[in-house]
Amino acid sequence: MMKIAEQSACGKSILLGEHAVVYGQPAIAVPMEDIRAYAWIEENNDKEGVRVEAIDLDEEIIIEDENKHQFAIVINDLIKKNKTEKLNFTVKLTSEIPQSVGMGSSAATSAAVCRCVAKYLGISLSQEEESELVFRAEEVVHGTPSGIDNNVIVYEKPILFVKGEAPKILHSKKDLYIVIGQSGVESSTMEMVKNIRKLVKENPNEFEIKFDKIGKLVEESEKNIENGRVDKIGVLMNENQEILREMQLSHPELETIIEIAKRAGALGAKLTGKGGGGNVVAISDKVETQKLIANSIEGAGYRVCKTKVGATL
Ligand code: PMV
Repeated sequence: MMKIAEQSACGKSILLGEHAVVYGQPAIAVPMEDIRAYAWIEENNDKEGVRVEAIDLDEEIIIEDENKHQFAIVINDLIKKNKTEKLNFTVKLTSEIPQSVGMGSSAATSAAVCRCVAKYLGISLSQEEESELVFRAEEVVHGTPSGIDNNVIVYEKPILFVKGEAPKILHSKKDLYIVIGQSGVESSTMEMVKNIRKLVKENPNEFEIKFDKIGKLVEESEKNIENGRVDKIGVLMNENQEILREMQLSHPELETIIEIAKRAGALGAKLTGKGGGGNVVAISDKVETQKLIANSIEGAGYRVCKTKVGATL
């Protein structure tokens, strides 16, 4: 069958600032352009109404008015804008982005569905509107997301993000070579954010100091991205990891991957996203070192993906 209005959206990785970003500190995230979610439309001949078929999960979601599923939030909003009475189509969805490992799978699938349905219905959305809609879908999945995922995925550019503000697009003076090592240990963003909230309630002063420190590391990193000092960004990422470890967000598997990455020449390596499992992000200023890091992590039995944040200055 013909793929109508096919659209895609990328994955993402947080370089620095996760968790502190929920409490108003800045964070830096980069798109993973080569790892994507794809959505397209097939018109229903034999079925009534609107549905999403998540091919990889072998799951069909029927979109109804009261449906609070992430895709229903997106599609119902677009249908309201379109004002056509009777719609009859299926959104087919497939994704290369691993789920529940902090690579933005939920925001990317929502963005791909949003882009494809908007195109099919002839609705033009600004990036800001698209990001806002994906954020509302993220609330269903993650509870109280900071908004970093929907922004980096919709703009598909490295960003400095502060909750409630428009993202600042970052321009890198030098190529940044990134390796993501996947621990394979699952954890839930909603749970990890809740755990931190509980700790913050118990020790507000201690956490305020930690979040402030992380915020300063992020601000320093922003300057170093724009100056092309990848070595300095690496040092700042390592310092960020120390604080995340103190916050009980690391995991033995993550520490193993971090060590492997550093031994292979990474300039910095830390957990990325929610922690408690999930992924490690490691950086380098050379493609050869990136390969070495990826091969070493893979050699130890973990899955990897690579990306490059290209120089734009
Ligand atoms: O879903 P993840 O693993 O990318 O983690 C989200 C990052 C947090 O800062 C922990 C939460 C948030 O909403 O920013």
